[in-house]
Amino acid sequence: MVNRAQRRLLPPSGLIAMTASDRQSHWQTVYQTKGEQQVSWSQADPQPSLGLIESIAPDRDAAIIDVGGGASRLVDALLASGFHDLTVLDLSEAALASARERIGAAGAAVRWIADDATVWQPQQAFDIWHDRAAFHFLVEETDRMAYLDRLHRGVRAGGHAVIGTFALDGPEKCSGLPVERYDPATLSRTIGPAFELIAEVPHRHVTPWGATQSFQFSVLRRK
Ligand SMILES: C[S@@+](CC[C@H](N)C(=O)[O-])C[C@H]1O[C@@H](n2cnc3c(N)ncnc32)[C@H](O)[C@@H]1O
Repeated sequence: MVNRAQRRLLPPSGLIAMTASDRQSHWQTVYQTKGEQQVSWSQADPQPSLGLIESIAPDRDAAIIDVGGGASRLVDALLASGFHDLTVLDLSEAALASARERIGAAGAAVRWIADDATVWQPQQAFDIWHDRAAFHFLVEETDRMAYLDRLHRGVRAGGHAVIGTFALDGPEKCSGLPVERYDPATLSRTIGPAFELIAEVPHRHVTPWGATQSFQFSVLRRK
């Protein structure tokens, strides 16, 4: 039975809304209990993210943040490509610790932030904001609005957002959680007129166990 107080928390889908603390404990448990080959999103070669970032930031001094970066190998690849102003933000300290340990001394220059992207306060405006498969977990309007507020403050005018989500024909859930699926047009509308959609890349991700997932990557320029 759902009581009256709980009913007020119910999103239109009828699911109980996830609080920031539920989210944190979900993801912390995932990274504490599963290895890289046991999570669907894992990638040895972080494409198309790396190629998109290299194409919009020929200047290796670009300040880049990977939001919901988890234990992704994107930060390793960016360091290898010559970028050096890197920040990785994720809810899960376990994910960040595993990336930091893997990278070793080269990771000393990376800023690691354990926080929720809907709560964190950006202290600078980045040249590039990258998000692969974190934004799409925000299925509640209030969470999306909080994230988009940080996105607007966290990207400088003329800077870029590279956002990868499940595409309209992608999975409806990931890691047992519902996701919001987008095409570039709906993502661009959701983000709002302060960002202009300048490129879109469909991507078929192959999970470690050989399943294929349909993603879309959008590149948006902050006006
Ligand atoms: C599907 S994984 C993708 C990880 C990474 N981007 C990659 O491509 O390997 C989703 C990641 O988003 C993080 N995440 C989910 N919601 C978040 C939030 N509100 N704030 C910060 N990180 C979040 C999770 O901890 C997890 O690492």
